Amino acid sequence: MKKFLDLISEEMMHAFEAAGYDRELGKVSLSNRPDLCEYQCNGAMAGAKLYKKAPIMIAGDVAKMCKDSKVFLTVEAVSPGFLNLKVREDFAADYLNQMRTEPKFGLHTPEKPSHIIVDYGGPNVAKPLHVGHLRSAIIGESIKRIAKYAGHEVLGDIHLGDWGLQMGLIITELQERQPELVYFDEGYQGDYPKEAPFTISELEEIYPAASAKSKEDGKYKDRAMEATFKLQSGVRGYRALWNHIMKVSLADLKKNYENLNVSFELWKGESDVHDLIPGMVDYLKKEGYAYISDGALVVDVKEETDTKEIPPCMILKSDGASLYNTTDLATIMDRMQTYHPDRMIYLTDKRQELYFEQVFRCAKKTKLAGPDTELLHIGFGTMNGKDGKPFKTREGGVMRLELLIKEINDEMYRKITDNRQMDEEEARKTAKVVALSAIKYGDLSNQASKDYIFDMDKFTSFEGDTGPYILYTIVRIKSILNKINEQDEQNGNTLPKQERIRNAGSDAEKALMLEIAGFQAAMETAYRETAPHKLCAYIYGLANAFNRFYHETKIVTEEDYEKKSGWVALLVLVRDILETCIDVLGFSAPERM
Ligand code: ARG
Repeated sequence: MKKFLDLISEEMMHAFEAAGYDRELGKVSLSNRPDLCEYQCNGAMAGAKLYKKAPIMIAGDVAKMCKDSKVFLTVEAVSPGFLNLKVREDFAADYLNQMRTEPKFGLHTPEKPSHIIVDYGGPNVAKPLHVGHLRSAIIGESIKRIAKYAGHEVLGDIHLGDWGLQMGLIITELQERQPELVYFDEGYQGDYPKEAPFTISELEEIYPAASAKSKEDGKYKDRAMEATFKLQSGVRGYRALWNHIMKVSLADLKKNYENLNVSFELWKGESDVHDLIPGMVDYLKKEGYAYISDGALVVDVKEETDTKEIPPCMILKSDGASLYNTTDLATIMDRMQTYHPDRMIYLTDKRQELYFEQVFRCAKKTKLAGPDTELLHIGFGTMNGKDGKPFKTREGGVMRLELLIKEINDEMYRKITDNRQMDEEEARKTAKVVALSAIKYGDLSNQASKDYIFDMDKFTSFEGDTGPYILYTIVRIKSILNKINEQDEQNGNTLPKQERIRNAGSDAEKALMLEIAGFQAAMETAYRETAPHKLCAYIYGLANAFNRFYHETKIVTEEDYEKKSGWVALLVLVRDILETCIDVLGFSAPERM
């Protein structure tokens, strides 16, 4: 289905052509004076130079051509040469009725889908998730869902940090505490125990303890580095411990991500490409891309047009150890071979911008990534507390994700139970659903690259540009529809099956209809620009338009049966679009709140 604005533009282009002007001048945009018109065309202004004519004359000529338009209700040429447009009620209603019958409300989907990998989440195994990982999960999940909805084949890969020093630290600390464990017996040949020698809470305590020790004690750190090296070179007992750490930690991570309504198709990690590194290094050397500099193996990635210094990409350290880079490059190589993606999208803190610039350049230059594969890094800003500084607990420590979520859940529970009677279980469940909308919408409604302030009061408010407000609107619609259903049942008649959206009967109704008609454009833009915040802006506008209509219209008590059934169709469409949008943003609405 064509986009609403495109249909309007086409009609305007036709009018320009009919009046003897270039049709390209007929592009229409949303009005920036909604008090005067719904849409506008500034083509006559641009045409003035071309035709050496006053713009108002051109606009007048074009307006005349629109007299019997099936699209325009009014076309006004206003000084100095703008065209102010309003569309016909039946044109809008027809469009909406078509949207109701088309899959995805008429969204145009590609014949040949792109294959996309979204690399997001990126937690580090055995380290607790903290708010820093929250943004990657929230934004990445939404970008993935938007791309899927737009008709592409998308895989989300969590890209676990599961191969680094933190693993050696944990192993070292375990040895410190339980030296008798069979994993440390180098002569041991038998099978290792199936049960891990620690629980998740022990694991979570071990890592920070080990990390603190290593900062104070150089020898301890050396041991941890050696343990890391032994693990990576395949010492049996260390690998067995690593497997335990992975299993225990992953179960916990899964639970945490589930609570966030975030899920990954691929649970791959840095460790998965470990065995690919030697082959990749050989290739880079053989093709002459990599050379030794100060003992390290590097690939130059600077370009002539650079305005700032882009250092070489280091592949191996002078001691032969691989780096974060190395696993990322090997992962790109692996993904190319296994999935042949058209795009890879990475979500991390924007402080990794330069890092990804280096990695991407290196992957392209060395042909590890194909020439047609787009590599895109989306760097997001920091989530700050009300003091404008990175978010901390009340005590000043790093805020753990679970704790943050619990605080919002509790706040939401309090609000909901203040508002209405609800049994404990439903109130808890509802609070969880609404709290998730508060967190996610609070994040996603900002342009990703910007820092934002996590403001509990604002995010959990039922009014304003918030997740709970959007949910509240959906719940309101559901409740109206339920009431009408009940009325119908009592009256023994049901609404006609072939209900249709009727021509708007008020300004508020028309404004609502035009908002709805913008769905395809909003979804397309959110995909094209990997910009969930544009979808948030769309649903906020739609929710506002609906609430205005609701406040001005007595829907439930309307006696004209046809009018009412038309509104039912309209409400169902608004509800379905809002629910679709929040689903691609990664949250959902309760039945009541
Ligand atoms: N584990 C990393 C971190 O915590 C993020 C991984 C991002 N993805 C990647 N392919 N490098 O910073």
